[in-house]
Amino acid sequence: MAGVPGSSTAASFTTAMSLTKMAKVPERFVLPPSHRPLIYNHLHNYHSTTSPLPVIDLVPIHDPSLRSRVIEDICNACKEFGFFQVINHGVSPSLMKDVVQACLEFFNLPIEEKLHLVSEDVNKPVRYGTSLNHVKDTIHFWRDFLKHYSNPLSKWIHSWPSNPPSYKEKMGDYAKATHLLHIELLEAIFESLGLDPKYMRREIEDGSQVMAVNCYPACPEPEKALGMPPHSDYGCITILLQTCEGLEVKLDKEDKWVPVPMIEGALLVHLGDHMEILSNGVYKSVVHRVVVNAETERLSIASLHSLALEKYIGPAAELVNEQNPKAYKESSFKDFLDHISENDIMQQRFIDTLKIGNP
Ligand code: OGA
Ligand code: NI
Repeated sequence: MAGVPGSSTAASFTTAMSLTKMAKVPERFVLPPSHRPLIYNHLHNYHSTTSPLPVIDLVPIHDPSLRSRVIEDICNACKEFGFFQVINHGVSPSLMKDVVQACLEFFNLPIEEKLHLVSEDVNKPVRYGTSLNHVKDTIHFWRDFLKHYSNPLSKWIHSWPSNPPSYKEKMGDYAKATHLLHIELLEAIFESLGLDPKYMRREIEDGSQVMAVNCYPACPEPEKALGMPPHSDYGCITILLQTCEGLEVKLDKEDKWVPVPMIEGALLVHLGDHMEILSNGVYKSVVHRVVVNAETERLSIASLHSLALEKYIGPAAELVNEQNPKAYKESSFKDFLDHISENDIMQQRFIDTLKIGNP
């Protein structure tokens, strides 16, 4: 394996991509039996028609006579699942195809082209890595990732990978489109909570957007490993594009993992911890994980939207009253980064450190 002179991090770095042809997964990926997933034949076994997970068509949201119905569907989806898929969301299918292509080209570049981006420092604005934190993880996860800040675009785009040459343009267009969609979705979610749709509009426009591009290569023993462990996202919402099935969401009530069906052209919406906090617990952030499969590589692009790094967010004053006392402490995106630098997310969720009293 090629290393970078003087960099011990890079020298110990082995991508999941480079392990895909092995007969077995190396020991460091093997989960204790109680944490292992049930492996379906992800390409054929389940369909959106039988899934309990909601799919919301965004076309009628622009029609004043139909909007309230969509808002009600969003309210139910957020209350019950903290998760839904959207169709007719306005992000063009050709752009989605192109950005996936550019990301795949990045992951398929020779390792020497990418090693300079390897870092275990979660504060780096651009980071290429494997697992969650390949230096600290006691159990490793079957994924490689590229993460970078994306809003405002003019501030960050220059720091993104210049290889493949199409990356900046395609990802730039996709980041702009998802940023606009996220504002539209937040308006609807705020409305569904009884808040002003323009609630915190300025902070949201200036908010942070982190693109996390995940590549999960085909895995020789998918029943023993995970692509990503159970977690919730820290921000307000995440908009996720996937190339095939693999994501599972946890249904709180039944303590059950439910696979998310692949719907061509759809985007997935996760509520994050900061939305649970803002709603004072009316909505919950969704706990999710990623299973891998033996047949095919999976790519996902998670656009994580939160307020700016050091902006604090707490429960909306409108949602706190005598019957519903304030249930969470204020926190920022920076607090989350500090939390994951110091803690194992397998042991403690960020949001659990913010709950007031006995939730
Ligand atoms: C994430 C995430 C899910 C997926 O990046 O936070 O949960 O399907 N990704 O890759
Ligand atoms: Ni996530």
